[in-house]
Amino acid sequence: DAQHPFQNTPNTDFSIPANRAWIERLVAQWKTKTFDTLPITVGGQEVQTETVVDGHDPSRPGHLLYRYSCGDASQVELALATAKRAQTGWDALGITKRAEILRSFAAVAAEERGDLIGVMMGDAGKAVVESDAEISEAIDFAEYYSRSLDTDGWYDGTSPTALGVVVVTPPWNFPYAIPAGGCLAALMAGNTVILKPAPETVLTAWYLACQLWKAGVPRDVLQFLPLIDGENGTKLLSDDRVGAVVLTGAYSTAQLFKSWKPNMRLYAETSGKNSMIISSAADLDLAIKDLVQGAFGHAGQKCSATSLAIVQRDVYESEQFRSQLRDAAASMHVASAWDLTAEVTPIIREPHAELQRGLTQLEPGETWLLEPKMIDNNPCLWSPGIRLGVKPGSWYHRTECFGPVLGIIPVDTLDEAIAIQNDSEFGLTGGLYSLDVDEIAQWRDAVEVGNAYINRSTTGAIVQRQPFGGWKHSSVGTGAKAGGPNYVASFKHWQQTSPSV
Ligand code: ALA
Repeated sequence: DAQHPFQNTPNTDFSIPANRAWIERLVAQWKTKTFDTLPITVGGQEVQTETVVDGHDPSRPGHLLYRYSCGDASQVELALATAKRAQTGWDALGITKRAEILRSFAAVAAEERGDLIGVMMGDAGKAVVESDAEISEAIDFAEYYSRSLDTDGWYDGTSPTALGVVVVTPPWNFPYAIPAGGCLAALMAGNTVILKPAPETVLTAWYLACQLWKAGVPRDVLQFLPLIDGENGTKLLSDDRVGAVVLTGAYSTAQLFKSWKPNMRLYAETSGKNSMIISSAADLDLAIKDLVQGAFGHAGQKCSATSLAIVQRDVYESEQFRSQLRDAAASMHVASAWDLTAEVTPIIREPHAELQRGLTQLEPGETWLLEPKMIDNNPCLWSPGIRLGVKPGSWYHRTECFGPVLGIIPVDTLDEAIAIQNDSEFGLTGGLYSLDVDEIAQWRDAVEVGNAYINRSTTGAIVQRQPFGGWKHSSVGTGAKAGGPNYVASFKHWQQTSPSV
């Protein structure tokens, strides 16, 4: 509202000694914490089930962090019936009341910031600064979405209706901010939500659900339903009582969901193969600093990660570029998330086939500027890899590896660089480093991505300032961007009634 305009929440400043002391205490406390088996919560009740699954800490292979219950077919049915029944009352509560609940959630998340950092370090192997940033983003989503259904200025006769029941199926790489964003937007628009967490990061999703309940969301309005059985997932998502599904995951997963229910209303953030162009007119220090951050932050496991650099040949051939990039990447501290100085932390599980290939096998004509190595005998912990001489159209150019590996393609001109950048089935994020205003203008008109960043890393979109979402196969659904003006409104059906005369 006008009196309290939206403002982004700052991340914790760990250069302040008191904050460092705070986080050191937290790490000591959370590293040794044990957890009771997490229940599902459907029909307003916490229930332990027969199917119990282990949750692991990627920093400590073999360490059992927690266990969680999974729902069966009857619990899917109970969740759907409950969500359907509860929806009318939740909708009738009205925008103002729901906005208050979203703002209470923001307050709870701020209050429990330290706990959530501890949870994510263990559950997702996420470094402290990356975990901290997720909490800021979730608070931003709550504050921003709570202000997003202002109906001032609409024509008479425009009336929105909630979609009904929304199923939120988030990813493990942003285990807190992304499910928070999906749940908060759907709830704000008057829908009830069934949260089906990513199997890898159920603990974080459980903490999120508890915070939403604490903030005043009733337990039948937000239900928590881990599922591992594919059949139950299909049953949940393809049920006709489900008004919409929110997914962040692979493009192939979105296609699979659609195959179960062709008319599914899907809001999907899907895959990417993001690249950064470094022109001859770039500020090289800045470009390299952001390149290593974008490529290796959270071990390259962001959908927005910089997976390719497309570099003009004079820069590419220069010793300055090569030594500076190699040194910047090689000096990153690769360690357990529990180590506060870690910059590259473990991947979520042992490399899948494509990542294994990206980390260990070169294509013809490629060489390692920096060869990745497994660290501390942990198959989840890999040092950064940089492949030189990646060829346009090659396997690496086409494949989203989702790990700490970066490939470099040399080009002669900016035109050629843009053509290669756009030669992708995906269009999530993309960058240009150049101090030449004409190059910037040319690039901005031509680049085919949802988030186009100029002299800035391709990761870390900020709510309201950089609403997030891709083009092409990086998005399936409405195209409304998370953290942007139309997102909450997209969780409504819109009806325009004409005057009666
Ligand atoms: N929103 C996340 C980012 O921009 C994915 O990095």
